[in-house]
Amino acid sequence: MRLRLLFLPVLLIGTHAFAQSASTIDPYQYTIRKEVTVQHGAVVSAHPLASHAGARILQQGGNAIDAAITTQLALAVVYPGAGNLGGGGFLVGHLSDGRNISIDYREMAPAKAHRDMYLDAAGNANTTLSQEGHLAAGVPGTVAGIFASLPYARLPLRKLIQPAITLAEKGFAITEKEARSLNAHAELFKRLNTKPTRFVKDTPWKAGDTLIQPELARTLKRIRDKGMEGFYGGETAAMIVAEMQRGKGIITTADLKAYKAKERKPIVFNYKDYTLITMPLPSSGGIVLQQMMGMVEKYPLSSWGFHSPQAIQLMVEAERRAYADRAEYLGDADFVKVPVKQLTDKKYLEQRMQDYVPNKAGSSVAVKAGAPLHESEQTTHLSVMDDQGNAVAVTTTLNGTYGSGVVVGGAGFFLNNEMDDFSVKPGVPNMYGLVGNEANAIAPGKRMLSSMTPTIVLQRQRPYLVVGTPGGSTIMTSVFQTLINILEFNMPVSQAVNETKFHHQWLPDQVDVEPDFPAGIISSLEQMGYKVTPRRSPIGRTEVIRVNNKGMLEAVGDKRGDDSAAGY
Ligand code: GLY
Repeated sequence: MRLRLLFLPVLLIGTHAFAQSASTIDPYQYTIRKEVTVQHGAVVSAHPLASHAGARILQQGGNAIDAAITTQLALAVVYPGAGNLGGGGFLVGHLSDGRNISIDYREMAPAKAHRDMYLDAAGNANTTLSQEGHLAAGVPGTVAGIFASLPYARLPLRKLIQPAITLAEKGFAITEKEARSLNAHAELFKRLNTKPTRFVKDTPWKAGDTLIQPELARTLKRIRDKGMEGFYGGETAAMIVAEMQRGKGIITTADLKAYKAKERKPIVFNYKDYTLITMPLPSSGGIVLQQMMGMVEKYPLSSWGFHSPQAIQLMVEAERRAYADRAEYLGDADFVKVPVKQLTDKKYLEQRMQDYVPNKAGSSVAVKAGAPLHESEQTTHLSVMDDQGNAVAVTTTLNGTYGSGVVVGGAGFFLNNEMDDFSVKPGVPNMYGLVGNEANAIAPGKRMLSSMTPTIVLQRQRPYLVVGTPGGSTIMTSVFQTLINILEFNMPVSQAVNETKFHHQWLPDQVDVEPDFPAGIISSLEQMGYKVTPRRSPIGRTEVIRVNNKGMLEAVGDKRGDDSAAGY
């Protein structure tokens, strides 16, 4: 067996550097690897211990789905701000037999939820209630998503879940970023929780401290031993419902029992010579990505060049128009009629750009939703490829960092605050500043609109690229830019991921840019009439795997976090 490993930038957690391959890792001393180039299988995720656990499963005969399951479960332990059991997500896969799949395990509004549940007597929206505490939580979907993925896996759940159990039971050393994040949220955790949690301690957290989560380990064991019933029934369900009763939440035993992950027909479209496979509703990600790619396809982006004012302006105007359509038309298609076919029609997308004027800023007052011919940001993404032709992109979320901030007493996991992804009142922005309309209004059993965009690109019908990112409303524009950087500007993967990014979401009418965005480009955009707003926080944390021209897998974790690649 040929084995070639190329490890690029590393960052050390713990005290000693040591040789870390896919077969060994010490949870108290490990390294962050921003890039690996390997022959057989690769995983890239938000945490080195999770990427390693997934890569190890590949090495032990698992396929990309096995590795995605293990990585997700490990993230629920080592990356509590977004990895989760109490949230939801989406999986997009291309299988070795040529099938494309997508699994929707988005959270669902509880039966007692209603359209105006976050409005006060005067009709004003109280977004604190949709963002913090028990009432912010939707019925979790992640565990159902794991079980819906299992038929595509090779190895038994017992094996796939064990790394997560061990990490929860024996503990691991937390990173500097995690320590800072836990400290920053300590007051929130104290205020919102009805029982003491493992995430608050008497003295501030520091890098290298051990986090042990025995309650979470027991929840994972119930899932291992009892299947879906280990989470959606029995002891775990009773703990969730008791937590709801202590904190005036509304999730009931019946809501948990009723939750189902759904297999959906993925969105598949062509961009030049490539085929893109991405997530359909209830994520807006796939439709918005298809719209933006479709709107820019006929323009000479590659000859204009990366970060040329023309290229950025065109992409910004495509973003503006796609986000305007999102706000008007998109919602859970099981509840509202969404004109998907019309919104993604090539002619419609061309028409949508008819009022784009080169070198002159468009306006979100003038650019409304189109008239289709009759339709902290804490989320986390992982990308996996194996050597059998399977590719998997998974994005999961609690919504905000640590979700609602509520840990289920006795069960050890955070609940999401995904209800804020509904439009709590038409025109009232959610925590990402996104506005929505009737299509995304709250209704019992409905799934809130998402921006998550797990995406696979095929070249000559073979997996070429796996991509995705967290980042709330910036998810779709980050995936869009990363794809354009690679497919049009021919960039090396690490540059495509790490280059500074920009973002426009229709409303507010401004171009957000990362703190290190070049001043010269900002002034070019301002001269065209754009309002440019530098952000304090970065845009996206993108995880990409690409097959290079030697057939090797190049896996890259974003520089913006503890993201780390592993493989063999
Ligand atoms: N909670 C972020 C998203 O689903 O878009």
